[in-house]
Amino acid sequence: MNYFRTRAVHAGHGVDPQTGAHAVPVYQTSTFAYGSAERGARLFGGEEQGFIYSRITNPTVRAFERKVADLEGAEDGLAFTSGMAAVSALAFTFLAPGDEVVYLGPLYGGTEGFFEHLLSRFGIITVDAEQAGGLEAAVTERTRMVYVETPTNPTLRVHDLAEVARRAHAVGALAVADNTFASPYLTRPLEFGFDVVMHSATKYLGGHGDAIGGVLVGSSERLAQVRGEGLRHVGGCLGPQDAFLLLRGVKTLPLRMEAHCDGAEAVARFLEGQPGVARVYYPGLESHPDHPVAARQMRRFGGMVSIDLEGGFVAAQAFLNHLELFTQAVSLGDVESLATHPASTTHALLPREQRERQGISEGLVRLSVGIEDPRDLIADLARALEALRSPALR
Ligand SMILES: Cc1ncc(COP(=O)(O)O)c(C=O)c1O
Repeated sequence: MNYFRTRAVHAGHGVDPQTGAHAVPVYQTSTFAYGSAERGARLFGGEEQGFIYSRITNPTVRAFERKVADLEGAEDGLAFTSGMAAVSALAFTFLAPGDEVVYLGPLYGGTEGFFEHLLSRFGIITVDAEQAGGLEAAVTERTRMVYVETPTNPTLRVHDLAEVARRAHAVGALAVADNTFASPYLTRPLEFGFDVVMHSATKYLGGHGDAIGGVLVGSSERLAQVRGEGLRHVGGCLGPQDAFLLLRGVKTLPLRMEAHCDGAEAVARFLEGQPGVARVYYPGLESHPDHPVAARQMRRFGGMVSIDLEGGFVAAQAFLNHLELFTQAVSLGDVESLATHPASTTHALLPREQRERQGISEGLVRLSVGIEDPRDLIADLARALEALRSPALR
């Protein structure tokens, strides 16, 4: 199978050998009979591979892991109950007190909060590369992990992945990319030298807003370590029913991503230059500072668009409250269009000055452009912008 669209449909599983079931069955079981005491000992001793207990592995979950690994060009995959469970399992497996994590911001607020507030209690230090004077200065002999999102949430920065991987490897650190916004259809960070890719599968991989999940991909050796420690001992396993939904979602990833990109490109071009819109963040626009990097690293530019509205929070609230087709909700990557105000929702836990330093202003609105007809989406946005011009808000 050479082509992405074919692999999205077929990779990771075949027809069920026992029943001929064409769709991967939902193996809704907590435990698996191992038959004999001798086989139990072999399975637990690692001399024989097989299913033991669904916290560690389950056939429906395994099919999802294999499919995502194939699409990312990785040896193996490992699924979790959420994106945050995937990030935390990775950190608990590979970091120890005194280690440093360097990140290139901005990051999803939950990830930044996890690094800065939770890991710090365990003696793990988080360094914001930008505050430390850039990546070159931030990465030191103490750095064990360099973490980046591609593109970043919510300002859609696109960092040079090859450069980040090179810098991480120069000190023997793990290069980790959260590829949630791009999905493997648009960018595959392992091809740029990254060691591990993480996804909130809740977003584009699942695509339908009906399941929460996370996944890591990378080398078999590294992921076996995470399965044995971060997954087995922390316990954030993906359930088989959610794995089934995510697996079904991934099959249409390439088709959905094309539609998301069509919509976002049209929306971004429409918004650029509209009165009341101070700035449009979309890596596909020539005005975006990272457009050249994005053009090198991405097949197309994704389905996320952020805008900075003149008039700050008041304008953002009024704009959001006048949208009809876009649903006001967090999350992203669903077939339906969503809109949110990061400063008061996804990034509310960060101190205001940290948000502003990262460009997450009070007037910033993040749009997750769905697969609806872009003409309807543009009409909805135009109506909400028109409402901002009403005398009461001026
Ligand atoms: C870029 C990114 N990474 C990670 C997460 C966390 O994923 P989850 O909500 O599945 O735990 C999110 C959630 O919004 C996200 O946007």
